[in-house]
Amino acid sequence: MTFSWNQVVAGRASKLAPSAFSDLEGIRSVEDLIFFAGGTPPLEKLPIARLRQASADAWEDAADHLYYGESQGHEPLRHMIAERMTSRGATTDPEHVMITNGSQQGLDLIARTLFDPGDVVVIEGPTYFGAMQAFDAYEVTYRTAPVDDDGLIPDELERLLREHPRPKAIYTVPTFQNPTGVTISPERRRRVVELSLEYTVPIIEDDPYGELHFPGDPVPPLRALDSNVIYLGTFSKTLAPALRMGWMVMPEALIPPLVNSKEAVDIQSDRFVQRAVVRACADGWLDAHLDEARALYQERCQRMIAALQREMPPGTRWITPQGGFFVWVTLTGEITSNALLPTAGKHGVAYLPGSAFYPDRRKEPTLRLGFSTLPDDKIDEGIHRLGRATAEFLG
Ligand SMILES: Cc1ncc(COP(=O)(O)O)c(C=O)c1O
Repeated sequence: MTFSWNQVVAGRASKLAPSAFSDLEGIRSVEDLIFFAGGTPPLEKLPIARLRQASADAWEDAADHLYYGESQGHEPLRHMIAERMTSRGATTDPEHVMITNGSQQGLDLIARTLFDPGDVVVIEGPTYFGAMQAFDAYEVTYRTAPVDDDGLIPDELERLLREHPRPKAIYTVPTFQNPTGVTISPERRRRVVELSLEYTVPIIEDDPYGELHFPGDPVPPLRALDSNVIYLGTFSKTLAPALRMGWMVMPEALIPPLVNSKEAVDIQSDRFVQRAVVRACADGWLDAHLDEARALYQERCQRMIAALQREMPPGTRWITPQGGFFVWVTLTGEITSNALLPTAGKHGVAYLPGSAFYPDRRKEPTLRLGFSTLPDDKIDEGIHRLGRATAEFLG
């Protein structure tokens, strides 16, 4: 007898969406493809030697940490994170920090702890698709607050907060947002936090790119304005994504349920990797590493903007970010980036269409370009191909 798994799989699981990258499956096999879809540090800049040494050192006192333990995370790592958060303007006590397996796990733990089926969550439109993947499992629905060049629009947010039923949380990537690269302006930040307090709807601040500001003044996290903000950070973009090392800064009252959720999901994060990360970052190494990375990302971003200016048809618009990994492009004419994708693939270039970043997958003329992983010549050639593909498509 054949098992009918459709009858066994939970209703919610059958509705879970695959990663946005699945839309690109047909294109990824194109020979010599220039793939602007990445959102990671470049392979050649991963600090392999430093991490290898730090991992070897982490085995020195292995007998002390080969057991289960430290559900909330390794104290020296929480301490280091609290110090870094404090130096960025968000005063943080190590007791409020929990180590997670990347910020993706943080999103899941928050949703597991806060969301009941049918709850409404305000997200930015567009937003990081992985947050929706995490939240979807808890059967929430979304209201989308639009984003412009200055980030989340407070008046639009307020309109949604006034609605019935009142949303359960506001999820935002306020700094160098994925996918648009925009940063919420200082006035808007204050207003967004005021609204959260006025309507008693907590903010979930997802901040993987905040430390990757281009040389110049860093932007303090939203949590610097209010200790009710639940903050998510990660080493995925500053060290390497495969470490699966992130953290959460929790409001006092949420520490017990969030730590209980962490224990329920995986008991603890990898105790070796936590020790290796502390060792790797020690003695000012992380700051020196970040300084170098920021300069490189700024150079690549400028290169991409110059190429867009040169290669794209008149009327194309884009947002120039001040940090992070992404440029958000709005194509000219009555076309969607989804319709353009096969032609782009034929010309040997790929991107993530804007539709990936909305819960209703609405088709738009927008697309996300990642600049962090590609050297100058690939950026130039890739945008040249994109320009040619767009011109051909427009006729
Ligand atoms: C906004 C945002 N949140 C969370 C994540 C997931 O990061 P991590 O590797 O720490 O799980 C990403 C990764 O791209 C991201 O862009």
